[in-house]
This record gives sequence, structure tokens and C-alpha cells, in this order.
Amino acid sequence: MKNFISTSDWTKDELQDILDYAKDLKINRFNDALKNKSVALLFFNPSMRTRTSFELGIQELGGYAVVLHPGKDAWPIEFKLNSIMDEEAEEHIIEVAKVLSDYCDLIAIRAFPKFINLEEDLSDNVINSFAKYASVPVINMETITHPCQELAHILTMQENLGDLNGKDYLLTWTYHPKPLNTAVANSSLLIASKFGMNVKLLCPSEEYILHENYINEAEKNCNSNNRTFEVTHDIEYGYANADIVYAKSWGSLSYYGNPKEEKIIRDGFKHFIVDGVKMSKTNNALFSHCLPLRRNIKATDEVMDSDYCVAIQEAGNRMHVQKSLLTTLLKEK
Ligand code: CP
Repeated sequence: MKNFISTSDWTKDELQDILDYAKDLKINRFNDALKNKSVALLFFNPSMRTRTSFELGIQELGGYAVVLHPGKDAWPIEFKLNSIMDEEAEEHIIEVAKVLSDYCDLIAIRAFPKFINLEEDLSDNVINSFAKYASVPVINMETITHPCQELAHILTMQENLGDLNGKDYLLTWTYHPKPLNTAVANSSLLIASKFGMNVKLLCPSEEYILHENYINEAEKNCNSNNRTFEVTHDIEYGYANADIVYAKSWGSLSYYGNPKEEKIIRDGFKHFIVDGVKMSKTNNALFSHCLPLRRNIKATDEVMDSDYCVAIQEAGNRMHVQKSLLTTLLKEK
């Protein structure tokens, strides 16, 4: 039985098989692959695209989705082992994972980092605990990485550019008033490097460099593909010759758990917004973002409304890659 917690646990060929089947599902949308099957979708955080694309995608394959929000419409869950449960949680992950495995054929989890303790967040304890105690495959719907977004992103790039080997890929930090999850940025580095691209990470200062777990893995992937991996704080250099520009805002790891202090330096970096002038420095690059996106804060109207913006296509592809993934995981169960 295989989980889908990180693309790091899957080979490029295995991921390409999921992408190829997603291309078929985009044409032949409906089948019975999930007939008489049910999937629990657990959201510890809000969602628009992930919930809609999973719920409808499961229905299009003849399955049934149960959507739960622990702590709201389902009991709050305790994740600490040997805990004396005298606080908010009404039940323990051990029972939750076993009961849901009894009812459902797959379990999908969205559980963002809490932005208090970096080491704790890096352990990805919520989804790893589900994986430990569940007896059905577990899918990551965004924790400290966002592997379903990775699949949709790469499918979109392949649809527009064909073979991605040797393309120049830029992940740029962009401004947002609050420190956001690093998940999509971590994921962007993992998947772009895995698919043979030269990868640049552009961020305002050292404080915004992503965690070494992801930097090191991306660098290793690039080295083994004979591609380059660079970190830069120079906007001109970052955008120069890029074939793909992917934008995301994230919180500084140096100020983890200190959003007020971080805001003072963050507010000096509003000029990292993606705009037409920056995009004109690229090799006619495609632009994308995982969404949601604050217009004229993260990217200008000009960029979002341009022909080179493929963010809507990428959001649409979430549905097809996830249907392909669900089918693959059930086959391997
Ligand atoms: N991109 C993404 O995961 O969107 P939602 O947060 O709306 O699910």
C-alpha cells in the first residue's frame, strides 16, 4: 500500500504515469474506478479548489466523498502519544485513523503548519500520524508540502511547453501582508528539480530562503539531472531568460512564530510583486500561481489577465491529476 504524502517518495516515472493518465481523464472524464468506494476528506484549514476538485472528482469516478472539519463538524483530535487528554481533544488519532480506515477506502488530509515551532511543523505530525495508524492510503491535500498542486503544475507546464528537460524555472517570493505556508514553495522546488529543469529561487533576503530539507533535495535532483540550482536575491537576474515563472509568498523561517517582527522587514519587499516589466525580462515565460491570489499585491492585473498566465488552467488540472492519483492508489492497495 502506498501513500501520497510527498512526491519525494515517488519516482519521476511513477509521477509521469499519473500525469499521463490525468491527460486521458481530461478527455474521458467519467468512469467507475471509485464505484462503491468512499474517501474521507479531512480539512483542518480552509480550501476552495482542493475541496471542490476532490469532492467532484470522486463523484465523477462513481465514488463518495465525506468531508470533515475536525474541531468544527467533527471531534477535535489529539495527536500526542501517551497524552492525558484533559484539554480540547475528544478523541485520539489512533482511534480516528482506525475508524475512518474501517469506513473508507482512502483518507486525504489538509493540515497546515501552525507557525509556532518549526521543528514540530517540519515533522508533519498530523499526516504522518494518519499514515501510521490508518490501514488505507493517505493523501496530502497540503501540509508542509502540496504534492497535488505539484502534479497540476507540472501537467500544466507539459501541456504548454512539452518536454520540460532543460527549461529555466524561476520560483519567486512575492509579497503578501501575512506570513503564509511554505508548502507550495517547497513543492515547487521539489517538482521542478525532479522534472529536469534549471531552477532559480528568488527571494528578498537570506531570511526568506526555504528550509534546507527542500533546498538540499532540489539541489541534489538538479545535480543528478546535470541542471543548475541557484538562490538569488537579485530580481533582474532571477527573471532573466526564465521559461516559467511561479510565484508564491511565504513566511520567513528566521522569524518563525514572530509575525509582528517579520512584518517590519516583509513590508520593505512589496516590490517583489510580479508585474509586466519583470515578465518582459524572461524568455516569454509562462506565469502561474497555485491560487488563491491577492491581485495587485502578489501579481498585477496585467499579469493575471495576460495570455501567458496559466493559473486557471493549473487550478483546473487539480481535478484531473487527483482523479488519476486516486485511481492509482486504489489499484496499488
Ligand atoms: N491551491 C489550493 O490548494 O487552493 P485551495 O487552498 O483553495 O484549496
